[in-house]
Amino acid sequence: MRAAVARAAAVRGTTSPNPPVGCVILAADGHQVGAGGTRPPGGPHAEVVALAEAGERARGGTAVVTLEPCAHHGRTPPCTDALLAAGVTRVVYAVADPTAVAAGGARVLAAAGVAVEGGLLAHEVATGPLRAWLHHARTGRPHVTWKYAATLDGRVAAADGTSRWISSPESRAEVHELRRKVDAIMVGRGTVLADDPALTARAEDGTLSARQPLRVVVGLEDLPAGARVRDSAAETLHLRTRDPAEVLAALADRGVVDVLLEGGPTLAGAFIAAGAVDRVLAYVAPKLLGAGPVALGAAGVSTVTAAHRLVVDQVTMSGPDVRISATPARN
Ligand SMILES: NC(=O)c1ccc[n+]([C@@H]2O[C@H](COP(=O)([O-])OP(=O)(O)OC[C@H]3O[C@@H](n4cnc5c(N)ncnc54)[C@H](OP(=O)(O)O)[C@@H]3O)[C@@H](O)[C@H]2O)c1
Repeated sequence: MRAAVARAAAVRGTTSPNPPVGCVILAADGHQVGAGGTRPPGGPHAEVVALAEAGERARGGTAVVTLEPCAHHGRTPPCTDALLAAGVTRVVYAVADPTAVAAGGARVLAAAGVAVEGGLLAHEVATGPLRAWLHHARTGRPHVTWKYAATLDGRVAAADGTSRWISSPESRAEVHELRRKVDAIMVGRGTVLADDPALTARAEDGTLSARQPLRVVVGLEDLPAGARVRDSAAETLHLRTRDPAEVLAALADRGVVDVLLEGGPTLAGAFIAAGAVDRVLAYVAPKLLGAGPVALGAAGVSTVTAAHRLVVDQVTMSGPDVRISATPARN
């Protein structure tokens, strides 16, 4: 299953609105004979990719897959059919499919005489590669990660407005890696005015990644004609609203499942106040500024007992910076 999880993680960011799934096929003697991840929409699901590699060696073997195999005709035929046709006699999956259309695969397989086990490494998969997709499947809304880089005194820019290089090169490289795995990167119009960010996923030498997430700018007013987000490096969507619910609905309509909200403080505050942030990712640099805007603007809190509570799920170092991942307590 760990090998299947790695396959799923490798295709994250290329499958939306379909889930990034990984699958490994073991022959009857237990040796791995096939592996694969979900191909981009319209292409084969992970099971079909892994079965193609295994060929006849799948007969009498086991399929290990991160999501319950689908039992429905979507753009591709049901994976349960492919598994049965290949002669697989055992299926082990991590997470049950929560969607009404695709669920029921485990039942179909069991009824055909396949030994089926669910739940292996379910938590790891549900909080890892499938996190955003499961959130979207349950709520109909994209999963939003609010990411910011701040000094130890919580500032995201200096008093003169300069904000580049708050975090370390290691942290910036991690953010580009993260950008490669999401469907969209979002900022408020204020960040475009202040920083003129490119909002692209790039390698350390500045080369653009092959796949670019959708760039989203939220705000009622026009964007400057020469703004970098208007160049041809990636597609940009300017949403002329200030309502997070409207933003999420517009993104869901476009098949966006996983969003990285990169600020600034005003837009982040509106999203936190609306309960529209599903994960907070903070890069805290060991620097002090003493003045300048702080990470979060007004978020509907006037007294300490009303603070938005988070549960920290991971603290790691990123070069000299501390990287904190936290989830709103409501989740
Ligand atoms: N270090 C970091 O991680 C980081 C990241 C991003 C930004 N920053 C810093 O943040 C500062 C910019 O802050 P900011 O707060 O102006 O940026 P912002 O939140 O990106 O943009 C604010 C703008 O967003 C629009 N907006 C969207 N929804 C809104 C809502 N519900 N309420 C009010 N406005 C809404 C408004 O534009 P319209 O007027 O067009 O409606 C508003 O002027 C800069 O200094 C930048 O360097 C730092």
